Amino acid sequence: MQARLLIRNARLVNEGRITTGDLLVADGRIDRIAPAIDTCADTEIDAAGAWLLPGMIDDQVHFREPGLTHKGCIASESAAAVAGGITSFMDMPNTRPPTLDMAAVAAKRHLAAASSHANFAFHLGVSTDNLDAVARADPRLIAGVKVFMGASTGNMLVDDPMVLERLFASVPTLLLAHCEHSQTITANEAEWRRQHGDAIPFAAHPLIRSAEACLRSTTLAVDLARRHGTRLHVLHLSTARELALFEPGPVTGKQITAEACVHHLYFDDEDYEALGSHLKCNPAVKSRDDRVALRHAVATGRIDVIGTDHAPHTLAEKAAPYSLAPAGLPLAQHALPALLELVHDGLLDLPTLVARCSHGVAELFRIRERGYLREGYWADLALVDDGHFAVEAAPILSRCGWTPFAGRHFRSRVRSTVVSGRLAWHRGCLMQGCRGLPLEFTR
Ligand code: DOR
Repeated sequence: MQARLLIRNARLVNEGRITTGDLLVADGRIDRIAPAIDTCADTEIDAAGAWLLPGMIDDQVHFREPGLTHKGCIASESAAAVAGGITSFMDMPNTRPPTLDMAAVAAKRHLAAASSHANFAFHLGVSTDNLDAVARADPRLIAGVKVFMGASTGNMLVDDPMVLERLFASVPTLLLAHCEHSQTITANEAEWRRQHGDAIPFAAHPLIRSAEACLRSTTLAVDLARRHGTRLHVLHLSTARELALFEPGPVTGKQITAEACVHHLYFDDEDYEALGSHLKCNPAVKSRDDRVALRHAVATGRIDVIGTDHAPHTLAEKAAPYSLAPAGLPLAQHALPALLELVHDGLLDLPTLVARCSHGVAELFRIRERGYLREGYWADLALVDDGHFAVEAAPILSRCGWTPFAGRHFRSRVRSTVVSGRLAWHRGCLMQGCRGLPLEFTR
């Protein structure tokens, strides 16, 4: 029997509505939601004035284990996640070795069961020679199949047209695609190198990893999916031009869906001057107009879900010149507060944010009994206070020890995070002994 937790007087945000009430957690699940619950619990939280959301389900993280644990590991990065209100994550395959078969997935699940603070699932990767393993994969044991149709950290590029045709025709479950056209990028970078040598400015990143490169690759992925009837999820859209390839509306029933990431919604190309390599990521953060279009697409449902693409690299690695500095930002700990800034600015309403960060992800991946504040569902919760909070006020839990949000203030802070019914994060402290559970998929 797990301890009972009673959260009183919260402003509950769920399925398009905001109501005030109490929520009782028992045996890991949401036992009751009511205007007032008259019962005893082992722990009570007075949540008057605070927002209670279903925890964020992050469909794209790079937690670096196995093989790259000097950057992060499942324990360290999931700690950062729960500190930021993320209760479940889906980890990418570009570890060392890469996750290319079900044995590698099983090994990661084993690691996570022993060390993850949040609920977990893993994507299976694609290489040019593992298509048989992909076709045989059990869709209930993986979150999805990830293909890098653009090169990024980890050398997992798959751009052979024959391999892509076979993959789109035979993948047994959701196919997630990183779309950037590598030849376009290589040619752009060669031109910048010709002019600037090793001193390419980081502000050139969105011109090298250009909007054109994104559009070409995303167009190809959508075309392949249409021809083969593939269930395709395009990751981290970063440009206005790609959006026309996707439909607005509810995620349920869509064959082709799209994700936006926190950094593409929050930053724009004017931020390279201050952040330099700390903003270098793939796909690149693009123009202010792109950011406006992405935010609008999130509001209208043309973009179905929001993820982080949390991708830690050390400060020493990031100190390298443009061509050598690795791409990727640590985002999990501050993702929800950063997204809530869009709500404070009136650009997005809170129920829509919850739909993109929790409900929609649960629907898109068919996650069993998570992603909503519903009686009987697992208690995955984020309790959020409004106020004025300096990013520096809390320690950075990601192993890399830095954040692109340094020096900023947020108007929201995650006070408590509940993972499968247990307090994982509370008032600035990581709770010891809280372990996440494997996500289950109804496929
Ligand atoms: O910026 C990125 N970093 N994009 C990716 O696709 C990979 C990621 C990483 O693993 O570092």
